[in-house]
Parts: sequence; C-alpha cells; structure tokens
Amino acid sequence: MKAIEVKGIFKSFREGFLLERKEVLHGVEFEVRGGAVVGLLGPNGAGKTTTIKIIMGISEPDSGEVLVSGKRASRSTRENIGFLPEAPYFYDYLTGREILTSFARFYRMKGDISRRVDEVLEIVGMRDEADRWVRSYSKGMLQRIGLAQAIIHDPDLLVLDEPMSGLDPIGRREFREIISGLKKKGKTILFSSHILQDVEMICDEVVMIYEGRVIKQGVLEDMLSGEISHYEVTVEGVEEIPGFTPERRSGKRLLFMVEEGRVDSIVKAVIEAGGKIRAVIPRTLTLEEIFIREVKDR
Ligand SMILES: Nc1ncnc2c1ncn2[C@@H]1O[C@H](COP(=O)(O)OP(=O)(O)OP(=O)(O)O)[C@@H](O)[C@H]1O
Ligand SMILES: [Mg+2]
Repeated sequence: MKAIEVKGIFKSFREGFLLERKEVLHGVEFEVRGGAVVGLLGPNGAGKTTTIKIIMGISEPDSGEVLVSGKRASRSTRENIGFLPEAPYFYDYLTGREILTSFARFYRMKGDISRRVDEVLEIVGMRDEADRWVRSYSKGMLQRIGLAQAIIHDPDLLVLDEPMSGLDPIGRREFREIISGLKKKGKTILFSSHILQDVEMICDEVVMIYEGRVIKQGVLEDMLSGEISHYEVTVEGVEEIPGFTPERRSGKRLLFMVEEGRVDSIVKAVIEAGGKIRAVIPRTLTLEEIFIREVKDR
C-alpha cells in the first residue's frame, strides 16, 4: 500500500518588488510505502518544507498532485497525519500537559485523555517538565512537545519536518528509539533532515532533494552496500611501501587507503618489502559521500 504519492509537483512563489515568479519545486516525484521510514534529505533551501506543506494540504502545488492513502491531499487527509512542523509554535502561557490535552481534544480523541497525555509525555521524556509553562522550555523541550503532539492521536502516518533540530546527542538517540518503536508498531514515517548520519541510522528509504528536484532515491541498504569506494589495507613490519602513502600510522602498523585497482599491487609491494598484511577491508560509500557525489555532478 502506498501511504503517500507525490506526483510531479511544481511550485513557485512570487517574490521581490516586481513579484517575479521563482520556481522552487520542479516536478518533485516520490512515493512512501506503507510501513516504511523514509528520509527526505537535502541542503537548506532544497525544497523539503515546501514539499511537506503540500503533502499536508497546507499549500497547493502549481501543478502535479499529492495522494495520501490514495486520496488527494486536503484538510481532511491532514487529520489522519501526525505532523511536526518545521518551527512548531505553541501558546506560551500553557504547560506542556495542557497543550497535549488540547490537541487530544482537537483530534476528538475518545477514552482516557489524561492517561494518553501521560503516556506520550513519558515517550518523549518530558514527564518532569510537563507542568511548566511552554515559554520556559528550551528549544529541545519544545521539539519534544512538538513530537508528542504529533503522536498523541496515534496516527498511522507521521510527517516530521526536521524532527531532530535542536536536540542534543542524547535527545537524538532517544528520538531514533522513538522512531524505531513507532516503526515496529507498523507506522509510516516521512521525515526531513539535512543530517545525514541521523538519516543513515534510521531510514529504510531515502529521497534526496536538491534545488527543487529529486536527484536520487531508493532503499538505503542498496545505496550503502552497492559500491565499494576503497580498500583499507593494514600492514606491519615495514617502515614504508614505495609508491604508496600511508593514511595513518599507529604503533608499528601502517594504514593505507587504496582504490580497488591497486589492491593487488600494494599486497605485492608489502611482501616484497618484507612486511606483513594484517587486513584488507573493503569500505562502502557513506550516505554523505553518495550525497556529495550526486550534488557535485550537477
Ligand atoms: N513563502 C515563500 N515565498 C518565497 N519563497 C519561498 C517561500 N517558501 C519557501 N521559499 C523558497 O523556496 C525554496 C525552498 O524552501 P524550503 O523551505 O522548502 O527549503 P528546505 O529544504 O525546507 O530548507 P531548510 O533545510 O533550510 O529548512 C527556498 O529557496 C526558499 O527561499
Ligand atoms: Mg525546511
């Protein structure tokens, strides 16, 4: 089942004194499969937030369309999505608990609302701060309440715009755990980020967006295991290998990074120099390397 289908969306804004049209999305197209965790990845200004607003039915594309569970994105499809906007704004003179309670009412939740509020406060690690005014919250605490608000009505689909911004390393790890918990419950999650390591750690699929275009997409595992970028060769018992410059020395070991075509010749050179090979390890590209390479070719 397809949770989200983004079909060739174009979007432009009128800008400046002359209100000239500037096109910021040029036919963005991708899908989010039900049950998948998908990372929408791209640098500042790439068009992530604009795409997300269109998915949420907050903004209209100039052309193309977005389907959410097969229905055109609108106010009514929005109600079934847990949404964390880029800069969540909450009324300052409410507590975290009051905010979550009012969202639960807004979603017309049935059952024990106060218990559910406690539950999500626990999930996002905000139980101890729940009764403080939101205006006293740090950026990371606001982000956590934003996430709590997105999951309070237990939606099957979550759309999160930069969910990890403002979180410290512990917060990021907790967030990753929350995401994998939601994934285990069968939820579908689309989130944007420009932090490649975070995406690399939790996504099933990646959509890379750059200057308003999808430049690469696919299953993360395939992307990462696909290509060997170089080999790491660890050598002992020699001071140097003619023709090769070591990357690092540690104790009596030398570490070389060589491309595939030179592995045989370094092995031969080490043996000829009287040294010993300790390891030859193929290294695959990281998501960051893949991303930078895709962008550089443009
Ligand atoms: N309301 C608007 N009016 C004019 N231009 C806009 C508007 N909203 C977005 N843009 C432009 O559209 C482009 C994409 O912006 P968008 O916010 O979608 O990027 P983003 O990928 O979310 O970036 P970031 O990582 O910084 O959040 C940018 O060039 C931005 O200036
Ligand atoms: Mg953005």
